[in-house]
Amino acid sequence: MRSLVHIAHVTDLQLADTQSPGRFEFLEFLRGLPGTNSFIPAQRAQEVLAAHAFDAMLSTLGCCESRETGAPVDLVISTGDNIDNAQWNELGWFVTLMSGGALDMARGRPYRGVQSADWPGELAWHPDGGADCWRIGYGYPTVEGLLDRALAPFETAGSLAPWISCFGNHDGLPFGQALPTPSYLARLLSGAKPYALPPAFDPFEHESELLENPETFLAGPSLPVPADLARRVVGRREFVEAHLGAPGLPAGHGYSATNLHESTTYFTHDPAPLVRVMVLDSANLDGFHRGSIGARQLAWLEGQLLACHSSCFDPAGRPMRGEGDDRLVVLASHHGLGTMTNLRQSHHGLEDDHPRFGAEAVRSLLARFPNVVLWLNGHRHLNEIVVHEWAKAGGPPGLRGACVEVSTCSMADWPSQGRLVEIVANEGAGTISVLTTMVNHASPLGPGGLGAGRRESGGLDGPAGLASLHRELAANVPMAGTGSSLEGRPADRNCKIVLPEPFRLG
Ligand SMILES: [Fe+2]
Repeated sequence: MRSLVHIAHVTDLQLADTQSPGRFEFLEFLRGLPGTNSFIPAQRAQEVLAAHAFDAMLSTLGCCESRETGAPVDLVISTGDNIDNAQWNELGWFVTLMSGGALDMARGRPYRGVQSADWPGELAWHPDGGADCWRIGYGYPTVEGLLDRALAPFETAGSLAPWISCFGNHDGLPFGQALPTPSYLARLLSGAKPYALPPAFDPFEHESELLENPETFLAGPSLPVPADLARRVVGRREFVEAHLGAPGLPAGHGYSATNLHESTTYFTHDPAPLVRVMVLDSANLDGFHRGSIGARQLAWLEGQLLACHSSCFDPAGRPMRGEGDDRLVVLASHHGLGTMTNLRQSHHGLEDDHPRFGAEAVRSLLARFPNVVLWLNGHRHLNEIVVHEWAKAGGPPGLRGACVEVSTCSMADWPSQGRLVEIVANEGAGTISVLTTMVNHASPLGPGGLGAGRRESGGLDGPAGLASLHRELAANVPMAGTGSSLEGRPADRNCKIVLPEPFRLG
C-alpha cells in the first residue's frame, strides 16, 4: 500500500465580522419555519469563537499522519466559504489564521452586537446574562466577559502543511447570496446596525429583493456601532490578491498572476508526482447561494482534463486520445453536484462568466475522464460520500473508473470537524483506495469554566478552551447539533473505497 496523496479537507469556516451592520441576524425569528433556506441561519451562538476552533483544527491537522500508511499531510484544502459576509476584514483574518501569527479582530474595541446583553430581542444567546431563547429554551450558560475574551488578540499557529483554498458564495457575496449594491455598501460601512426588519415587512414577499436590493432588509430600526471602512466587500480579485500576498507554500497558495489579471479563482496544483488538484470556482456572483460553472471555466476545465489523460472519451462517448501523461485528478470546489443548480444571470451582478452551467453539464464532462477519482467539496455543512460510477449512470460504456465525491461538514456548525482524505495505490491489485477519516480538533473535550465541576480549570482564558466551547455550543444547537443529519451516516464519515486504477500506476 503506497500513499499517492494525503489531503486534509476543511470547509465552510464562515469567519464572521459579528458586529457588521451588513448582517441579517434579525431573520433568526424565522428559524424552524418551512421555506426559510434563504434566510436561516443568519446567526450562530458559537460564531464569535470560530477563529479559535479553526486555529485548533489547523494545529491538529498539522500533526496528523495517515492511519494506513503513516504519511504526513501533503496539502490542506479549504473548499470555500472561508469568510461569512465577503468583507475585506474577514478575508484578512482568514489569511492570518492560515498563515499563523497575531490575530486581532477587535483592535481594542469592545464587542457591540446582537450578543450584547442589552441588545433588543431574545433571538441571540447573550453570554453575559439576561433573557434569551437559548438560555431559557436550551440551557445555554452565562459566561461573563466571553465576547471580549473571544475577540482579544491571540497568536495563531497557522497551517503546518502547504495550503490552498477555493472561492465560495460567502467569499464573494454578502450573506452568501446578495448583490453588494451601492445602497447596501453604504449601510455596511455605516455605524448603524439594524436589529429588526422594517415595520410590516414580510420577508417572504420580498425574498427576491434579498438578492437584488438587500438594503431593503436593513432599513428597520438600528443601534449605533463603530463604523469600519475595513468592512468593504471583496471579490475574486481581492481574494486572489490576499492569497498571493500570504506567506507559506505553495507560492500564491495556487493562485497566479494570471488569476489576478483575469480575476479568476480556478487553477491547478500538483501536490504529489502522480496527482493534480483542479480547484474550481462554483460561486455565481449574479446572486443566490447555490453554485454553477461559467462557460469559460468549463472550457478551461475540459482543457485541463485533456492534459491529464493519455486516453479518454469524446462528448459522444467514443474513445479518444488525450493530450498528456496520465495523472490522478482531484477536484476541489465549494459546491458539489447536488447544489450546482444556480443558472441565474443578472444584469446588475458581478459575474462575467456566462452562460452558466449546472450539474448536468459538469456530470457529462467528468464522465469522459476516468482519471478524475476524487472530488472534495462543502457548502451543505454535512458529511456525505457518493461514489459516481459514470458508466452505470449513462456515461460511456467503456469507462471503468469511478469518482468519489466527498462533501465534508462545516467548521462553523456541528460537528465542526475536518477530514483526512488519502489516495493509496494497492500495489499488485490494480486498484486504488480512497481513505477518509474525520478529525476533531484536539482542544479539551470540555471547555472548562462552565458549571460547578469545571469551574476550577479556568480553560476559557486560553484559545484551546474557547475552541472547545465553540464545539460544545454547536453540539447543543437544536436540530443542527448532536445527532442531526449534519454528521452524516457512518458511511459518510470514515471510509475505505476501492476503485479500479484508471491507468497503470507502476
Ligand atoms: Fe456555501
